[in-house]
Amino acid sequence: MKISIIGTGYVGLVTGACLADLGNTVICADNNKNKITNLKKCIIPIYEPGLEELVKINVRKKRLCFTADIKEAVSKSQIIFIAVGTPSLSNGEADLTGVENVARNIALNMTGYRLIVEKSTVPVETGKWVKHTVSTFVKRNIDFDIASNPEFLREGQAINDFMHPDRIVIGAESKKARELMAALYKPLNAPLVITDIKSAELIKHASNSFLANKISFINAISRICEKVGADVMEVAFGMGMDKRIGPGFLSAGIGYGGSCFPKDVDAFIDIAQKLGCDFDLLKAVREVNESQKNMFLKKIKDMLWIIKDKTIGVLGLSFKPDTDDIRNAPSIDIIRMLQAEGAKIKAYDPSAMEKAAKALDKVKFCKDPYEACKGSDCLLIATEWDEFKELDFTRIKKMLKRPFIIDGRNIYDPAAMKKLGFMYAGIGRRAVTKK
Ligand code: UGA
Repeated sequence: MKISIIGTGYVGLVTGACLADLGNTVICADNNKNKITNLKKCIIPIYEPGLEELVKINVRKKRLCFTADIKEAVSKSQIIFIAVGTPSLSNGEADLTGVENVARNIALNMTGYRLIVEKSTVPVETGKWVKHTVSTFVKRNIDFDIASNPEFLREGQAINDFMHPDRIVIGAESKKARELMAALYKPLNAPLVITDIKSAELIKHASNSFLANKISFINAISRICEKVGADVMEVAFGMGMDKRIGPGFLSAGIGYGGSCFPKDVDAFIDIAQKLGCDFDLLKAVREVNESQKNMFLKKIKDMLWIIKDKTIGVLGLSFKPDTDDIRNAPSIDIIRMLQAEGAKIKAYDPSAMEKAAKALDKVKFCKDPYEACKGSDCLLIATEWDEFKELDFTRIKKMLKRPFIIDGRNIYDPAAMKKLGFMYAGIGRRAVTKK
């Protein structure tokens, strides 16, 4: 099939490369000329395992190309995906300016039937507005359809998630749209959920919010565990064995971050409010997530007492492992909170230091985890990168000024840490060692 993807951000680029790999002819368009110039040279603006190779292979096979000219993209394709950003406005509402612009541009450049697909995460009823916009601007009486096809890709595993999805959600109004979308995804042999556009839009916001809910729930449980001396990892394990609950997204930590959950929870609260259905449950999810960072700060104070003039080593800056993305990363907020109290920060991350350097002032970025430990008063774990799980702790103990580790991702065993001579605190763990 001939496909265009408008917007070469995370979602657009991964979707474009994967659809090309399935044998379609894909044009990825973006109004950022610099980005397109780089993409034409296969320079990828984000770090995603496997994406660069996938782009290179499909460019070489002439199934994937890039353009800054939306007219070219629209005129050459039958299916057009809208994959532009939908950032949060200051009131939490999703900013749909980009979606509206693209809808208008598609309408102005359509030469025949087009299936216009919402891929960006959008509030329910956006499809209605896209249809209204296209109808208003389309030049002649050209037929078109709107569909909603939300994405469920996780950063760091996006290609695998695309190729092996749990389900593919298709919201459409016409038989033709449903058949085109079903045919497009046929090679993946995945379960299809075919529904109306509004239900498809809601599936996306409801899914992300539910996952955020699971995380805040287990974080709230971790606080109770700490009060009574129970262990949140064992509680989560026991809960997760119930098939109705499931084991995923029950890892307690310093809260969720990234470009999706915080933004989508805000947008869902906003749209629910506008529809007259106050979503108090989600407001509580957001509150727990925010206060989780304060709880972590308190843990640091419980160990160090005074923060001012202390040097603190931080391992992990990205919002989760296997990405260089620091958007809404809890680590960045925590570093700023510590700096506001007068701490000096030494930090290390396998891939996010370049981006973090642009967001943070006065941080000493280190060449490896050990340099971050050297002379530090304590060590914090903010992201659960695999390489932090197998460090030389005898070396670390010698390098730290005091053997203090505060693990915001529960990657170490408290008993093993105690045995090694550390004063260790995780999140909601049973054995907090006393010196
Ligand atoms: C999330 C969803 O998982 C995807 O399905 C969705 O497509 C995507 O948002 C999106 O809407 O674009 P992503 O933001 O890449 O994907 O990251 P996740 O792996 O879901 O993690 C989000 C945050 O939750 C991270 O900060 C992670 O550390 C945190 N988390 C996750 C926990 O604190 N505990 C957990 O048990 C799981």
